[in-house]
Amino acid sequence: MSFDRKIKIAPSILAADFANFGAECAAIEAQGADWVHVDVMDGHFVPNITFGPATCAAIRPHIKGVMDVHLMIAPVDPYIEGFAKAGADVITAHVEAGAHTHRTLQAIRAAGAKAGLALNPGTPVSEVEYYLEMVDLICVMTVNPGFGGQKFIHSQIEKVKQLRALIGDRPIHIEIDGGVDPVTAPLVAAAGANVLVAGSAVFKGGSVNNPAPYGENIRNIRAAAEGVWA
Ligand code: DX5
Ligand code: ZN
Repeated sequence: MSFDRKIKIAPSILAADFANFGAECAAIEAQGADWVHVDVMDGHFVPNITFGPATCAAIRPHIKGVMDVHLMIAPVDPYIEGFAKAGADVITAHVEAGAHTHRTLQAIRAAGAKAGLALNPGTPVSEVEYYLEMVDLICVMTVNPGFGGQKFIHSQIEKVKQLRALIGDRPIHIEIDGGVDPVTAPLVAAAGANVLVAGSAVFKGGSVNNPAPYGENIRNIRAAAEGVWA
């Protein structure tokens, strides 16, 4: 996984057909997705449950590119090895998930994955200051984690600007997760984000049997985000 700041669209399979993950992953990649975003929820750190390492391992062979695993679980550390063995390229943990984020990030890199750190909407940028040399990605949550299809929280745009300034030239992706669509994508791209997670806005109107809308949705989000560079 090489580093660049080009816009990457990362569809979240939280909005896919759960009975058909393999075909859904192949369909979104064929339709232009850059990364596949995989939301793991435990019913404890967030009020919803999805799936764990076994499901990630099962879908891995159906993803050609980057498998971006977002862990909304606490504790995190006992499961890092399992998600790394399942083939995650990026493993993102929440800074709010425990007292020992530093140890968690060490463990993710030691397991051979890129390390991501996610911030809930109420968490300030200062929380990441001492982790900048240990992370490959910082995920700014623009909804409260737990569910797809929520409304974008506009106060987070200022947070993205602050984060972009703090990161400087370091090779760290800024990822946005929640409520991304062609209207909100340019706002976060202009603020400095380069990885855009989108669930409902990518999967709406399509299916594995009719994947063309996925492609149109991805192109629309990408064009809106890249438009701010023109
Ligand atoms: C929220 C998840 C997101 C979610 C985004 O807890 O982390 O990845 O699927 O869904 P949308 O794009 O529908 O807000
Ligand atoms: Zn997510």
